[in-house]
Amino acid sequence: MASFCSWLALEQNHVYILGMESGILNAELVKRINELKRKKNAIVLVHNYQRPEIYDVADFIGDSLGLCQQARKTNASIIVFCGVNFMAESAAILNPGKKVIAPCLDAGCAMADMVEARDLFEFKKKHPDADVVTYVNSSAEVKALSDVCCTSSNAVDVVRSRKSRKIIFVPDKNLAAYVQKQVPEKEIIAWQGYCPVHHYVNKEYLEEVRRENPEAKIIAHPESKPEVLEMADYIASTSGMIDVALRDAAEEFFVLTECGMTERLHKEIPEKKFKGLCNLCFDMKKNTLPAILKCLEDESPIVTVDAEVAKRALKAFDEMFRVSIAPKD
Ligand code: 13P
Ligand code: SF4
Repeated sequence: MASFCSWLALEQNHVYILGMESGILNAELVKRINELKRKKNAIVLVHNYQRPEIYDVADFIGDSLGLCQQARKTNASIIVFCGVNFMAESAAILNPGKKVIAPCLDAGCAMADMVEARDLFEFKKKHPDADVVTYVNSSAEVKALSDVCCTSSNAVDVVRSRKSRKIIFVPDKNLAAYVQKQVPEKEIIAWQGYCPVHHYVNKEYLEEVRRENPEAKIIAHPESKPEVLEMADYIASTSGMIDVALRDAAEEFFVLTECGMTERLHKEIPEKKFKGLCNLCFDMKKNTLPAILKCLEDESPIVTVDAEVAKRALKAFDEMFRVSIAPKD
């Protein structure tokens, strides 16, 4: 399966042409996927960064927190997860009774790969008095070693809620710096991971945008560098960006996050203009309509997590839900 979807990811134009030749247009794929969903009592959960044609088969499109909430509460028999691996794994942990399938099992996250469970295990020994707060962009094994999980939309609340003053924050150093600024009473020891998609947008770029577009607003994801966040009008999770753009009267927004987010904003708020200050997350683009259809037909590949790891990771998730405000549906 992995090779099938890698091939799809690398050969998008080719797949598109094949689709055209055999008359399988996106509309037909959407129709077939929706039929199968009904027949198999399946739901499709889609992250905001996914290809826009995938929005058409989604039962829910959202950020990490929203997706976790939906996975946790669904009554469907099958969850088709369109995002990256750690997200699909989270769904399997949160709702162990369901079959979680993902069109591409090799859709990873560069930031999640920057922390290994064995390294965190050793690091914790150096700071026995610290709580471990782990961003969901991490493996199930890393979550299993943590006191609590967080997402971009609740990291500040989660850290603030901890009794311990000392916090090991894993793996994103930029999100850690952002949280530290909001919660100065805590001492945050940041793991040195980062998201390359966000990290490599520089402040000079934003300065130019500001100079040339004085009326426009800038919204940045908290995975961005501190000096970049300082220049933003708003800092928000991907779904938080939609709320911000709805609330603010500005007509034009520059959006510092993965490029697919501008498509999502256009779909949600077509009357406003959105421009990306962005890089692509290629893993997020690996899922395609043909791969989703195949995944639903085969009910494969299934996302699995070791039972003991899942049990411990679930405790860290439950702790997050104890403090986290439920998102809108
Ligand atoms: P959100 O939870 O804000 O959607 O972020 C997920 C992510 O991977 C950002 O790069
Ligand atoms: Fe991971 Fe960055 Fe891609 Fe988000 S955008 S999934 S943090 S690599």
